Amino acid sequence: MNRKEPSWLKNAVFYQIYPQSFCDSNGDGIGDIQGIISKLDYIKDTGFNAIWLNPIYESPFKDAGYDVSDYYKVAPRYGTNEDLRQLFAEAKKRGIRVILDIVAGHTSTEHEWFKASCKAEKNKYSNYYIWNEDWLDDSDGLNMINGYAERNGNFAINFFSTQPALNYGFADPDPRKKWQLPTDHPDVQAVGEELRKLMEFWLQQGCDGFRVDLAPSLIKKDKGRKAVIQFWQKFRKIFDEKYPEAALIAEWSYAPQALKAGFHIDFMIFCGTSAYTSLFRNEPERDMFQYIPKKVFYEIDGYDYELKNQNSFFDRGGHGDINQFMTTYLRHYQETKENGYIAMVSSNHDMPRINDNRNALDLELIFAFIMTMPGTPFIYYGDEIGMRNIKGLVSVEGGYTRTQARTPMQWDTTANAGFSTAPASKLYLPIDPDEARPNVQSMLADDNSLLNRFKNILKIRKAHESLQADGDFEFIPVTNAANVLAFIRKSANEKLLMLFAPGADGGEFSFKLDTAQTPTAIRAVNMELSCRDGIATCKTSNSGYGIFKI
Ligand code: GLC
Ligand code: CA
Repeated sequence: MNRKEPSWLKNAVFYQIYPQSFCDSNGDGIGDIQGIISKLDYIKDTGFNAIWLNPIYESPFKDAGYDVSDYYKVAPRYGTNEDLRQLFAEAKKRGIRVILDIVAGHTSTEHEWFKASCKAEKNKYSNYYIWNEDWLDDSDGLNMINGYAERNGNFAINFFSTQPALNYGFADPDPRKKWQLPTDHPDVQAVGEELRKLMEFWLQQGCDGFRVDLAPSLIKKDKGRKAVIQFWQKFRKIFDEKYPEAALIAEWSYAPQALKAGFHIDFMIFCGTSAYTSLFRNEPERDMFQYIPKKVFYEIDGYDYELKNQNSFFDRGGHGDINQFMTTYLRHYQETKENGYIAMVSSNHDMPRINDNRNALDLELIFAFIMTMPGTPFIYYGDEIGMRNIKGLVSVEGGYTRTQARTPMQWDTTANAGFSTAPASKLYLPIDPDEARPNVQSMLADDNSLLNRFKNILKIRKAHESLQADGDFEFIPVTNAANVLAFIRKSANEKLLMLFAPGADGGEFSFKLDTAQTPTAIRAVNMELSCRDGIATCKTSNSGYGIFKI
């Protein structure tokens, strides 16, 4: 590959940590940086070599820290900048990279820039945010808050009312609306400079890169996202020149654009119903976000994402259709494989946990899939032990339905599952009330636990170059069986065959395979494979998967 990129990404396996809920070291009921440091050995032993930390900056926490009031300061509840530097150093000792979350598109209303921007008198920060000139209306399609400040205008927000959009300019400003500044306006360029400065600040403190929140949203009225692509390309140049080992990861959800923009990685999540949802979430009665109505047609940049089969591929019923995912995936993969990686995720802080009514076998298949696809896998803390989605919690810090996936990590069988020594009433969120809730300590002691099976899969990935980010990928269509998935991963020296057949009833399927003898199983669960005359036949007795050497 002729591209420049951090060398460690080829074999990176990310663990996403929601700091509030991971490990509380000082008994105040909220997770913190020292808590994370105390668990680095666990993270390493499990097989991860990279961490993505959700925002840890000072914040009034109206959106769990995605509303930053000081980008240069760790929120006191998590510790100090010194603690964070210690985390970088301790992680490094163990060969673990740490990525921070950069909230580039907006700040908190509590940020000093915004407070200054609210003033009637013109000042350096007046144009740092998007303000119209009329206190009554004229939003031009933006989401605006009226009646907040002394200055005569309304400000645009990106998400909640407490998250004013930073002003990176308009790609296509309306000439009649003077408040829509072009992207080359010096005030707007100053905001871009602030972003560069703060990213460089954290790189110099020792972090290994960033996950950029809402990365494509920065420039307004940007048809086809051309302007924001150029914007990020400039950042990539700085990375290539000054920080070639630092990773740029987008929350963009459209890899062809994100990777063109210079990001090394983008997540395969919200690309309509044919991506993450079609694999893990579609069900006749619900969708991945409870507020997205079913049977939607998405159109993103000319591509239609249509929900055709409402059974997700990895449902235990085994009635899904892998083509729904593959059609989109293959197009994205072909378009991007020379430029970076698509990330498969187990879940994240914005969606229900992957263990939403699943059993260990269901989860094992999903982990094996995530770990054997090209690109970079991301596992959300606790998914590796099968932590459950906890429905019905009252929203905390702007979580709303997302709160269900943000409960404390379950470490052992002591009070508060070992998360914190605080009284239960003081915890950031309650522990899963189920007495049979999984925990790390008990699972480590059981060879057959989900956690140990997960670790085995990671070991297999680590031992086989073809399974890592850059290994070639070849999809094998299985005629007459859309509910199974077959593909080949290949590197210079090896060729592996992957088979996935969710479906508790088991079954049989065949496909063409050009090999003289039956491939040997590296790991086969509920699955038998045999080959004759160029035809492979696979029998399963329950949901099954296999990793075979050809
Ligand atoms: C991203 C984050 C989400 C946050 C939002 C606004 O989507 O993942 O948690 O609420 O951006 O910053
Ligand atoms: Ca704490």
